[in-house]
Amino acid sequence: MLQERIRLASLRDKVMSAAEAARFIQDGMIVGMSGFTRAGDAKAVPLALAERAKTEPLGITLMTGASLGSGIDKVLTEAHVLKRRLPFQSDPVLRAAINRGEVMFIDQHLSETVELVRSHQMGPIDVAVVEAAAITREGAIVPTTSVGNSATFAILAKHVIVEINLGQHVDLEGIHDVYIPTRRPYREPIPVVSPESRVGLPFIPIDPAKIVAIVVTNQQDSSAETTPPDADTRAIAGHLIEFLSREVAKGRLSNRLGPLQAGIGSIANAVLTGLVDSPFHDLTMYSEVLQDSTFDLFDSGKLVFASGSSITLSSACQARVFPNIGKYKNRLILRPQEISNHPEVIRRLGIIGINTALECDIYGNVNSTHVGGTHMMNGIGGSGDFARNAYLAVFVTKSLAKGGTISRIVPMVPHVDHNEHDVDVIVTENGLADLRGLAPRERAEVIIANCMHADFRDQARDYFTRALKRGGQTPHLLNEAFEWYDRLEKTGSMKG
Ligand code: COA
Repeated sequence: MLQERIRLASLRDKVMSAAEAARFIQDGMIVGMSGFTRAGDAKAVPLALAERAKTEPLGITLMTGASLGSGIDKVLTEAHVLKRRLPFQSDPVLRAAINRGEVMFIDQHLSETVELVRSHQMGPIDVAVVEAAAITREGAIVPTTSVGNSATFAILAKHVIVEINLGQHVDLEGIHDVYIPTRRPYREPIPVVSPESRVGLPFIPIDPAKIVAIVVTNQQDSSAETTPPDADTRAIAGHLIEFLSREVAKGRLSNRLGPLQAGIGSIANAVLTGLVDSPFHDLTMYSEVLQDSTFDLFDSGKLVFASGSSITLSSACQARVFPNIGKYKNRLILRPQEISNHPEVIRRLGIIGINTALECDIYGNVNSTHVGGTHMMNGIGGSGDFARNAYLAVFVTKSLAKGGTISRIVPMVPHVDHNEHDVDVIVTENGLADLRGLAPRERAEVIIANCMHADFRDQARDYFTRALKRGGQTPHLLNEAFEWYDRLEKTGSMKG
Protein backbone atom coordinates (compact mmCIF):
# COMPACT_ATOMS: atom_id res chain seq x y z
CA MET A 1 0.00 0.00 0.00
CA LEU A 2 2.79 2.40 0.91
CA GLN A 3 4.55 1.61 -2.37
CA GLU A 4 1.43 2.70 -4.23
CA ARG A 5 1.44 5.95 -2.31
CA ILE A 6 5.22 6.65 -2.45
CA ARG A 7 5.96 5.79 -6.04
CA LEU A 8 9.48 7.24 -6.22
CA ALA A 9 11.42 4.35 -4.68
CA SER A 10 14.38 6.50 -3.62
CA LEU A 11 12.12 8.44 -1.23
CA ARG A 12 10.92 5.40 0.72
CA ASP A 13 13.84 5.52 3.14
CA LYS A 14 12.70 9.00 4.17
CA VAL A 15 9.76 7.50 6.07
CA MET A 16 10.15 8.32 9.76
CA SER A 17 8.11 9.16 12.84
CA ALA A 18 6.42 12.54 13.23
CA ALA A 19 8.78 13.34 16.12
CA GLU A 20 11.83 12.66 13.96
CA ALA A 21 10.43 14.69 11.07
CA ALA A 22 9.56 17.58 13.40
CA ARG A 23 13.30 17.82 14.23
CA PHE A 24 13.75 19.61 10.89
CA ILE A 25 11.77 22.49 12.40
CA GLN A 26 13.79 24.67 14.75
CA ASP A 27 13.00 27.54 17.11
CA GLY A 28 12.40 30.79 15.18
CA MET A 29 11.67 29.19 11.81
CA ILE A 30 8.96 30.14 9.32
CA VAL A 31 6.87 27.08 8.54
CA GLY A 32 4.26 26.72 5.78
CA MET A 33 1.72 23.97 6.38
CA SER A 34 -1.08 22.58 4.25
CA GLY A 35 -4.65 22.98 5.47
CA PHE A 36 -7.59 25.05 4.37
CA THR A 37 -10.77 25.27 6.47
CA ARG A 38 -10.00 21.98 8.27
CA ALA A 39 -9.30 20.14 5.00
CA GLY A 40 -6.04 18.52 3.95
CA ASP A 41 -4.09 19.74 6.95
CA ALA A 42 -0.87 18.21 8.23
CA LYS A 43 -2.03 16.11 11.15
CA ALA A 44 0.99 14.54 12.86
CA VAL A 45 4.00 16.87 12.61
CA PRO A 46 2.28 19.86 14.30
CA LEU A 47 1.33 17.67 17.26
CA ALA A 48 4.93 16.43 17.51
CA LEU A 49 6.06 20.07 17.60
CA ALA A 50 3.69 20.79 20.49
CA GLU A 51 5.06 17.75 22.34
CA ARG A 52 8.65 18.90 21.84
CA ALA A 53 7.83 22.41 23.03
CA LYS A 54 7.19 20.92 26.49
CA THR A 55 10.92 20.35 26.94
CA GLU A 56 12.67 22.95 24.78
CA PRO A 57 12.02 26.50 23.53
CA LEU A 58 10.21 26.23 20.20
CA GLY A 59 8.41 29.21 18.71
CA ILE A 60 7.55 29.50 15.02
CA THR A 61 5.75 31.63 12.47
CA LEU A 62 3.03 29.40 11.04
CA MET A 63 1.50 30.05 7.63
CA THR A 64 -1.27 27.82 6.30
CA GLY A 65 -3.95 28.06 3.64
CA ALA A 66 -6.64 28.95 6.17
CA SER A 67 -7.99 27.37 9.37
CA LEU A 68 -6.85 23.93 10.58
CA GLY A 69 -8.73 20.97 11.99
CA SER A 70 -7.92 18.35 14.63
CA GLY A 71 -7.56 21.04 17.28
CA ILE A 72 -4.09 21.79 15.90
CA ASP A 73 -4.23 25.56 16.40
CA LYS A 74 -5.45 24.95 19.97
CA VAL A 75 -2.69 22.48 20.79
CA LEU A 76 0.02 24.67 19.24
CA THR A 77 -1.28 27.73 21.11
CA GLU A 78 -1.38 25.93 24.44
CA ALA A 79 2.18 24.72 23.88
CA HIS A 80 3.25 28.33 23.05
CA VAL A 81 4.60 27.21 19.67
CA LEU A 82 2.80 29.94 17.74
CA LYS A 83 4.59 33.29 17.79
CA ARG A 84 3.10 34.55 14.56
CA ARG A 85 0.15 33.09 12.64
CA LEU A 86 -1.34 33.84 9.22
CA PRO A 87 -3.47 34.23 7.15
CA PHE A 88 -6.67 32.91 8.87
CA GLN A 89 -7.82 30.93 11.90
CA SER A 90 -11.08 30.00 13.56
CA ASP A 91 -10.02 28.33 16.79
CA PRO A 92 -11.41 29.73 20.09
CA VAL A 93 -8.18 29.09 22.05
CA LEU A 94 -5.96 30.70 19.42
CA ARG A 95 -8.49 33.53 19.05
CA ALA A 96 -8.23 34.25 22.79
CA ALA A 97 -4.41 34.23 22.63
CA ILE A 98 -4.51 36.63 19.66
CA ASN A 99 -6.83 38.95 21.55
CA ARG A 100 -4.54 38.84 24.62
CA GLY A 101 -1.70 39.93 22.33
CA GLU A 102 0.26 36.69 22.85
CA VAL A 103 0.17 35.56 19.22
CA MET A 104 0.76 38.07 16.44
CA PHE A 105 -1.96 37.39 13.89
CA ILE A 106 -1.65 38.72 10.36
CA ASP A 107 -5.18 38.75 8.98
CA GLN A 108 -4.74 38.58 5.23
CA HIS A 109 -6.70 38.29 1.99
CA LEU A 110 -6.31 34.58 1.23
CA SER A 111 -5.18 35.22 -2.34
CA GLU A 112 -2.24 37.32 -1.19
CA THR A 113 -0.11 35.23 1.15
CA VAL A 114 1.95 33.37 -1.43
CA GLU A 115 2.34 36.48 -3.59
CA LEU A 116 4.05 38.12 -0.62
CA VAL A 117 6.29 35.10 -0.06
CA ARG A 118 7.13 34.77 -3.75
CA SER A 119 8.14 38.42 -3.98
CA HIS A 120 10.24 38.17 -0.78
CA GLN A 121 8.01 40.62 1.09
CA MET A 122 7.49 37.82 3.64
CA GLY A 123 9.43 34.67 4.39
CA PRO A 124 11.52 32.84 3.32
CA ILE A 125 9.83 29.58 4.27
CA ASP A 126 12.24 27.26 6.06
CA VAL A 127 10.11 24.12 6.06
CA ALA A 128 6.86 23.18 4.32
CA VAL A 129 4.71 20.40 5.78
CA VAL A 130 2.20 19.11 3.25
CA GLU A 131 -0.41 16.36 3.49
CA ALA A 132 -0.45 14.15 0.39
CA ALA A 133 -2.50 11.32 -1.04
CA ALA A 134 0.59 10.16 -2.93
CA ILE A 135 4.04 11.06 -4.21
CA THR A 136 4.37 10.42 -7.95
CA ARG A 137 7.16 8.50 -9.67
CA GLU A 138 8.78 11.86 -10.41
CA GLY A 139 8.61 12.93 -6.77
CA ALA A 140 5.70 15.37 -7.22
CA ILE A 141 3.14 15.75 -4.44
CA VAL A 142 -0.53 14.82 -4.94
CA PRO A 143 -2.47 16.88 -2.37
CA THR A 144 -5.60 15.62 -0.60
CA THR A 145 -8.79 17.54 0.19
CA SER A 146 -7.27 21.00 -0.17
CA VAL A 147 -4.64 22.74 -2.23
CA GLY A 148 -4.66 26.05 -0.37
CA ASN A 149 -1.14 27.48 -0.29
CA SER A 150 0.55 24.07 -0.26
CA ALA A 151 1.95 24.24 -3.79
CA THR A 152 3.84 27.51 -3.40
CA PHE A 153 4.92 26.64 0.15
CA ALA A 154 6.44 23.38 -1.10
CA ILE A 155 7.97 24.97 -4.19
CA LEU A 156 9.61 27.82 -2.24
CA ALA A 157 10.54 26.06 1.03
CA LYS A 158 14.11 24.96 1.69
CA HIS A 159 12.90 21.60 3.04
CA VAL A 160 9.64 19.71 2.61
CA ILE A 161 8.06 17.20 4.97
CA VAL A 162 5.27 15.14 3.40
CA GLU A 163 2.53 13.52 5.45
CA ILE A 164 1.15 10.64 3.39
CA ASN A 165 -2.38 10.14 4.71
CA LEU A 166 -3.64 6.63 4.00
CA GLY A 167 -7.05 7.73 5.29
CA GLN A 168 -7.47 10.08 2.32
CA HIS A 169 -8.91 8.36 -0.74
CA VAL A 170 -6.40 7.78 -3.52
CA ASP A 171 -9.19 8.66 -5.97
CA LEU A 172 -8.58 12.29 -5.02
CA GLU A 173 -5.72 12.09 -7.50
CA GLY A 174 -6.67 14.00 -10.63
CA ILE A 175 -8.98 16.47 -8.89
CA HIS A 176 -6.29 19.11 -8.40
CA ASP A 177 -5.22 21.75 -10.89
CA VAL A 178 -2.00 23.40 -9.78
CA TYR A 179 -1.25 26.57 -11.71
CA ILE A 180 1.45 28.92 -10.48
CA PRO A 181 1.41 32.48 -11.90
CA THR A 182 4.49 33.38 -13.92
CA ARG A 183 7.05 35.81 -12.50
CA ARG A 184 6.74 39.56 -12.81
CA PRO A 185 7.49 41.60 -14.85
CA TYR A 186 6.62 39.00 -17.50
CA ARG A 187 3.46 37.67 -15.87
CA GLU A 188 0.84 36.39 -18.27
CA PRO A 189 -2.96 36.34 -17.89
CA ILE A 190 -4.22 33.42 -15.81
CA PRO A 191 -5.95 31.27 -18.45
CA VAL A 192 -8.99 30.34 -16.33
CA VAL A 193 -12.00 31.39 -18.43
CA SER A 194 -14.70 29.24 -16.77
CA PRO A 195 -15.01 27.20 -13.54
CA GLU A 196 -14.24 24.09 -15.63
CA SER A 197 -10.91 25.43 -17.02
CA ARG A 198 -8.00 23.10 -16.29
CA VAL A 199 -4.83 25.11 -16.72
CA GLY A 200 -2.17 23.47 -14.55
CA LEU A 201 -0.87 20.13 -13.30
CA PRO A 202 -2.70 17.50 -11.20
CA PHE A 203 0.16 17.55 -8.66
CA ILE A 204 2.67 19.90 -7.01
CA PRO A 205 5.92 19.72 -8.98
CA ILE A 206 8.96 19.94 -6.69
CA ASP A 207 12.54 18.77 -6.68
CA PRO A 208 12.28 15.46 -4.73
CA ALA A 209 15.69 16.16 -3.18
CA LYS A 210 13.94 18.77 -1.01
CA ILE A 211 11.77 16.09 0.62
CA VAL A 212 13.63 15.43 3.85
CA ALA A 213 11.00 13.38 5.67
CA ILE A 214 7.83 11.40 5.00
CA VAL A 215 5.40 10.69 7.81
CA VAL A 216 2.59 8.18 7.35
CA THR A 217 -0.78 9.03 8.89
CA ASN A 218 -4.24 7.53 8.69
CA GLN A 219 -6.78 10.06 9.79
CA GLN A 220 -9.85 11.71 8.27
CA ASP A 221 -10.11 15.49 8.12
CA SER A 222 -11.99 17.10 10.98
CA SER A 223 -15.60 17.49 10.02
CA ALA A 224 -17.27 20.88 9.56
CA GLU A 225 -19.49 22.07 12.35
CA THR A 226 -22.55 23.12 10.37
CA THR A 227 -25.73 24.22 12.08
CA PRO A 228 -28.86 23.13 10.23
CA PRO A 229 -30.89 25.93 8.60
CA ASP A 230 -33.30 27.70 11.00
CA ALA A 231 -36.22 30.06 10.33
CA ASP A 232 -33.90 33.05 9.98
CA THR A 233 -31.38 31.46 7.63
CA ARG A 234 -34.26 30.04 5.55
CA ALA A 235 -35.78 33.53 5.35
CA ILE A 236 -32.40 34.97 4.25
CA ALA A 237 -32.14 32.28 1.57
CA GLY A 238 -35.71 33.05 0.47
CA HIS A 239 -35.06 36.81 0.09
CA LEU A 240 -31.91 36.18 -1.90
CA ILE A 241 -33.52 33.65 -4.23
CA GLU A 242 -36.42 36.05 -4.84
CA PHE A 243 -33.93 38.82 -5.65
CA LEU A 244 -31.98 36.58 -8.04
CA SER A 245 -35.25 35.58 -9.74
CA ARG A 246 -35.99 39.29 -10.30
CA GLU A 247 -32.52 39.75 -11.78
CA VAL A 248 -33.29 36.89 -14.19
CA ALA A 249 -36.67 38.44 -15.08
CA LYS A 250 -34.91 41.75 -15.83
CA GLY A 251 -32.47 39.95 -18.12
CA ARG A 252 -29.41 40.76 -16.00
CA LEU A 253 -28.75 37.10 -15.21
CA SER A 254 -29.73 33.87 -16.94
CA ASN A 255 -31.39 30.98 -15.13
CA ARG A 256 -27.90 29.55 -14.69
CA LEU A 257 -27.00 32.66 -12.64
CA GLY A 258 -23.25 33.33 -12.49
CA PRO A 259 -20.62 31.09 -10.93
CA LEU A 260 -21.42 31.04 -7.22
CA GLN A 261 -19.09 31.63 -4.29
CA ALA A 262 -20.25 31.01 -0.75
CA GLY A 263 -18.22 31.83 2.32
CA ILE A 264 -17.91 29.86 5.51
CA GLY A 265 -20.61 29.83 8.12
CA SER A 266 -24.04 28.41 8.58
CA ILE A 267 -25.91 31.22 6.81
CA ALA A 268 -24.02 31.03 3.53
CA ASN A 269 -24.34 27.23 3.59
CA ALA A 270 -28.11 27.53 4.20
CA VAL A 271 -28.48 29.96 1.32
CA LEU A 272 -26.81 27.55 -1.09
CA THR A 273 -28.85 24.65 0.22
CA GLY A 274 -31.94 26.79 -0.49
CA LEU A 275 -31.00 26.76 -4.18
CA VAL A 276 -31.91 23.06 -4.30
CA ASP A 277 -35.59 24.11 -4.43
CA SER A 278 -35.07 27.15 -6.65
CA PRO A 279 -36.00 27.64 -10.31
CA PHE A 280 -32.31 27.94 -11.29
CA HIS A 281 -30.49 25.13 -13.07
CA ASP A 282 -27.13 24.06 -14.51
CA LEU A 283 -25.40 26.08 -11.82
CA THR A 284 -21.65 26.32 -11.38
CA MET A 285 -19.49 27.28 -8.40
CA TYR A 286 -16.19 29.13 -8.41
CA SER A 287 -15.56 29.29 -4.71
CA GLU A 288 -12.87 28.56 -2.16
CA VAL A 289 -14.48 26.17 0.33
CA LEU A 290 -16.81 23.52 -1.06
CA GLN A 291 -19.21 22.62 1.75
CA ASP A 292 -22.12 20.17 2.17
CA SER A 293 -24.30 22.44 0.05
CA THR A 294 -22.07 21.82 -3.00
CA PHE A 295 -22.75 18.10 -2.83
CA ASP A 296 -26.46 18.62 -2.02
CA LEU A 297 -26.66 20.70 -5.19
CA PHE A 298 -24.73 18.08 -7.19
CA ASP A 299 -26.99 15.30 -5.93
CA SER A 300 -30.15 17.29 -6.68
CA GLY A 301 -28.96 17.80 -10.25
CA LYS A 302 -28.83 21.61 -9.87
CA LEU A 303 -25.06 21.98 -9.99
CA VAL A 304 -23.00 20.93 -12.98
CA PHE A 305 -19.48 21.98 -11.91
CA ALA A 306 -17.64 23.21 -8.83
CA SER A 307 -14.19 24.73 -8.53
CA GLY A 308 -12.71 25.43 -5.10
CA SER A 309 -9.59 25.18 -3.01
CA SER A 310 -10.85 22.72 -0.39
CA ILE A 311 -13.64 20.28 0.45
CA THR A 312 -14.87 20.76 4.02
CA LEU A 313 -17.83 18.60 4.98
CA SER A 314 -19.92 17.60 7.97
CA SER A 315 -19.28 14.05 9.18
CA ALA A 316 -22.50 12.75 7.56
CA CYS A 317 -21.56 14.34 4.24
CA GLN A 318 -17.95 13.07 4.54
CA ALA A 319 -19.31 9.52 4.89
CA ARG A 320 -21.50 10.03 1.83
CA VAL A 321 -19.00 11.80 -0.42
CA PHE A 322 -15.41 10.72 0.30
CA PRO A 323 -15.79 6.96 -0.32
CA ASN A 324 -17.46 7.89 -3.63
CA ILE A 325 -15.28 10.85 -4.56
CA GLY A 326 -14.54 9.22 -7.93
CA LYS A 327 -18.19 9.76 -8.85
CA TYR A 328 -17.81 13.55 -8.54
CA LYS A 329 -14.31 13.77 -9.95
CA ASN A 330 -15.12 14.94 -13.47
CA ARG A 331 -17.25 17.76 -12.00
CA LEU A 332 -14.74 19.07 -9.47
CA ILE A 333 -11.47 21.00 -9.46
CA LEU A 334 -9.37 22.00 -6.44
CA ARG A 335 -6.99 24.89 -7.15
CA PRO A 336 -4.36 26.86 -5.23
CA GLN A 337 -6.15 29.56 -3.24
CA GLU A 338 -4.37 32.32 -5.12
CA ILE A 339 -6.20 31.06 -8.24
CA SER A 340 -9.57 30.22 -6.64
CA ASN A 341 -9.50 33.71 -5.09
CA HIS A 342 -7.67 35.61 -7.79
CA PRO A 343 -9.08 39.09 -8.48
CA GLU A 344 -8.41 38.74 -12.21
CA VAL A 345 -10.35 35.48 -12.50
CA ILE A 346 -13.18 36.55 -10.17
CA ARG A 347 -13.78 39.71 -12.21
CA ARG A 348 -13.57 37.77 -15.50
CA LEU A 349 -16.05 35.06 -14.50
CA GLY A 350 -18.74 37.40 -13.11
CA ILE A 351 -19.10 35.71 -9.78
CA ILE A 352 -22.00 36.00 -7.35
CA GLY A 353 -20.19 36.16 -4.00
CA ILE A 354 -22.20 35.40 -0.87
CA ASN A 355 -20.38 36.04 2.42
CA THR A 356 -21.42 36.51 6.01
CA ALA A 357 -21.04 39.77 7.91
CA LEU A 358 -20.58 40.09 11.65
CA GLU A 359 -22.33 43.45 11.25
CA CYS A 360 -23.10 46.12 8.65
CA ASP A 361 -23.72 49.82 8.99
CA ILE A 362 -26.53 51.93 7.62
CA TYR A 363 -24.32 53.09 4.73
CA GLY A 364 -23.28 49.58 3.64
CA ASN A 365 -19.86 49.15 5.23
CA VAL A 366 -19.27 45.63 6.51
CA ASN A 367 -17.31 44.30 9.46
CA SER A 368 -16.51 40.59 9.05
CA THR A 369 -13.77 40.21 11.60
CA HIS A 370 -13.63 42.42 14.70
CA VAL A 371 -16.17 41.90 17.48
CA GLY A 372 -16.92 45.27 19.05
CA GLY A 373 -14.35 46.81 16.70
CA THR A 374 -11.34 45.36 18.53
CA HIS A 375 -11.50 41.61 19.12
CA MET A 376 -10.60 39.21 16.32
CA MET A 377 -13.16 36.58 15.39
CA ASN A 378 -11.68 34.52 12.52
CA GLY A 379 -10.21 36.80 9.89
CA ILE A 380 -11.21 38.28 6.54
CA GLY A 381 -10.48 35.00 4.75
CA GLY A 382 -11.45 35.17 1.11
CA SER A 383 -14.41 37.47 1.59
CA GLY A 384 -12.43 40.53 0.44
CA ASP A 385 -10.96 38.75 -2.58
CA PHE A 386 -14.48 37.95 -3.74
CA ALA A 387 -16.46 41.01 -2.61
CA ARG A 388 -14.12 43.51 -4.26
CA ASN A 389 -14.21 41.75 -7.61
CA ALA A 390 -17.54 39.93 -7.79
CA TYR A 391 -20.28 40.73 -10.31
CA LEU A 392 -22.61 40.81 -7.30
CA ALA A 393 -21.17 41.11 -3.78
CA VAL A 394 -23.82 39.89 -1.36
CA PHE A 395 -23.46 40.01 2.43
CA VAL A 396 -25.84 37.99 4.58
CA THR A 397 -26.35 38.27 8.33
CA LYS A 398 -29.04 37.75 10.91
CA SER A 399 -30.27 41.15 12.09
CA LEU A 400 -29.65 40.33 15.76
CA ALA A 401 -27.06 38.54 17.89
CA LYS A 402 -26.82 37.37 21.50
CA GLY A 403 -30.51 36.93 22.23
CA GLY A 404 -31.50 40.23 20.62
CA THR A 405 -29.21 42.44 22.71
CA ILE A 406 -27.00 43.23 19.71
CA SER A 407 -28.17 44.74 16.43
CA ARG A 408 -26.04 43.55 13.53
CA ILE A 409 -27.03 46.71 11.65
CA VAL A 410 -25.45 49.70 13.40
CA PRO A 411 -24.96 53.41 12.67
CA MET A 412 -21.24 53.02 11.97
CA VAL A 413 -19.23 49.79 12.02
CA PRO A 414 -16.21 50.16 14.33
CA HIS A 415 -14.02 48.13 11.93
CA VAL A 416 -14.37 48.01 8.13
CA ASP A 417 -13.42 44.96 6.09
CA HIS A 418 -15.63 45.63 3.06
CA ASN A 419 -16.35 49.24 2.40
CA GLU A 420 -19.44 50.87 0.92
CA HIS A 421 -17.89 50.76 -2.57
CA ASP A 422 -17.64 46.97 -2.61
CA VAL A 423 -20.97 45.89 -1.12
CA ASP A 424 -23.87 45.45 -3.56
CA VAL A 425 -26.54 43.68 -1.53
CA ILE A 426 -27.22 43.14 2.18
CA VAL A 427 -29.70 40.48 3.30
CA THR A 428 -31.10 39.72 6.74
CA GLU A 429 -34.11 37.63 7.72
CA ASN A 430 -36.18 40.83 7.55
CA GLY A 431 -35.42 41.61 3.94
CA LEU A 432 -32.92 42.63 1.31
CA ALA A 433 -31.28 45.95 0.50
CA ASP A 434 -30.12 46.36 -3.09
CA LEU A 435 -27.49 49.08 -2.77
CA ARG A 436 -26.37 49.22 -6.39
CA GLY A 437 -26.43 52.73 -7.79
CA LEU A 438 -27.58 54.32 -4.53
CA ALA A 439 -25.97 57.27 -2.75
CA PRO A 440 -25.15 56.87 0.97
CA ARG A 441 -28.33 58.71 2.10
CA GLU A 442 -30.47 56.42 -0.10
CA ARG A 443 -28.64 53.34 1.15
CA ALA A 444 -29.35 54.25 4.77
CA GLU A 445 -33.10 54.51 4.06
CA VAL A 446 -33.27 51.10 2.42
CA ILE A 447 -30.99 49.29 4.90
CA ILE A 448 -32.91 50.61 7.92
CA ALA A 449 -36.30 49.85 6.32
CA ASN A 450 -35.52 46.43 4.82
CA CYS A 451 -32.75 44.82 6.86
CA MET A 452 -32.87 46.20 10.38
CA HIS A 453 -34.75 44.38 13.12
CA ALA A 454 -37.91 46.23 14.22
CA ASP A 455 -36.53 46.48 17.77
CA PHE A 456 -33.77 48.81 16.58
CA ARG A 457 -35.41 50.58 13.65
CA ASP A 458 -36.68 53.68 15.53
CA GLN A 459 -33.36 54.11 17.26
CA ALA A 460 -31.52 53.96 13.92
CA ARG A 461 -34.00 56.34 12.23
CA ASP A 462 -33.55 58.80 15.08
CA TYR A 463 -29.75 58.71 14.65
CA PHE A 464 -30.00 59.04 10.87
CA THR A 465 -32.49 61.93 11.01
CA ARG A 466 -30.32 63.92 13.39
CA ALA A 467 -27.19 63.11 11.35
CA LEU A 468 -28.95 64.41 8.23
CA LYS A 469 -29.41 67.78 9.93
CA ARG A 470 -25.65 68.00 10.33
CA GLY A 471 -25.28 67.23 6.63
CA GLY A 472 -22.57 65.66 4.55
CA GLN A 473 -22.28 63.05 1.80
CA THR A 474 -22.31 60.35 4.50
CA PRO A 475 -24.00 62.03 7.49
CA HIS A 476 -22.78 60.98 10.94
CA LEU A 477 -22.75 62.25 14.49
CA LEU A 478 -19.20 61.27 15.37
CA ASN A 479 -19.67 61.71 19.12
CA GLU A 480 -22.60 59.26 18.97
CA ALA A 481 -21.65 56.88 16.17
CA PHE A 482 -20.31 54.20 18.55
CA GLU A 483 -22.71 54.91 21.41
CA TRP A 484 -24.52 51.60 20.84
CA TYR A 485 -21.31 49.71 21.73
CA ASP A 486 -20.86 51.82 24.83
CA ARG A 487 -24.39 51.05 25.91
CA LEU A 488 -23.85 47.33 25.25
CA GLU A 489 -20.82 47.35 27.52
CA LYS A 490 -22.58 49.28 30.28
CA THR A 491 -26.08 47.76 30.17
CA GLY A 492 -25.68 44.44 28.32
CA SER A 493 -27.81 45.66 25.41
CA MET A 494 -27.52 48.05 22.48
CA LYS A 495 -31.15 49.07 22.99
CA GLY A 496 -31.62 52.74 23.80
N1 COA B 1 -21.32 41.33 17.80
C1 COA B 1 -20.95 40.37 18.68
N2 COA B 1 -21.06 39.05 18.45
C2 COA B 1 -21.60 38.68 17.26
C3 COA B 1 -22.02 39.62 16.31
C4 COA B 1 -21.87 40.98 16.61
N3 COA B 1 -22.23 41.91 15.74
N4 COA B 1 -22.50 38.95 15.26
C5 COA B 1 -22.39 37.65 15.52
N5 COA B 1 -21.85 37.48 16.73
C6 COA B 1 -21.55 36.22 17.39
C7 COA B 1 -22.76 35.28 17.35
O1 COA B 1 -23.61 35.52 18.43
C8 COA B 1 -22.07 33.95 17.43
O2 COA B 1 -21.64 33.71 18.76
P1 COA B 1 -22.10 32.41 19.53
O3 COA B 1 -21.53 31.28 18.71
O4 COA B 1 -21.44 32.58 20.86
O5 COA B 1 -23.59 32.48 19.53
C9 COA B 1 -20.80 34.14 16.61
O6 COA B 1 -20.57 35.55 16.62
C10 COA B 1 -20.91 33.67 15.17
O7 COA B 1 -22.01 34.29 14.57
P2 COA B 1 -22.90 33.55 13.47
O8 COA B 1 -23.81 34.51 12.84
O9 COA B 1 -23.49 32.33 14.05
O10 COA B 1 -21.74 33.14 12.57
P3 COA B 1 -21.36 32.37 11.30
O11 COA B 1 -20.96 31.00 11.66
O12 COA B 1 -22.34 32.53 10.21
O13 COA B 1 -20.03 33.22 10.97
C11 COA B 1 -18.65 35.12 10.64
C12 COA B 1 -20.07 34.59 10.78
C13 COA B 1 -18.72 36.56 10.15
C14 COA B 1 -17.92 35.03 11.96
C15 COA B 1 -17.92 34.23 9.58
O14 COA B 1 -18.68 34.17 8.42
C16 COA B 1 -16.54 34.75 9.25
O15 COA B 1 -15.58 34.50 9.96
N6 COA B 1 -16.44 35.52 8.15
C17 COA B 1 -15.19 36.14 7.74
C18 COA B 1 -14.44 35.28 6.78
C19 COA B 1 -15.20 35.05 5.52
O16 COA B 1 -16.20 35.68 5.22
N7 COA B 1 -14.75 34.16 4.70
C20 COA B 1 -15.46 33.93 3.45
C21 COA B 1 -14.75 33.17 2.56
S1 COA B 1 -14.38 31.60 3.38
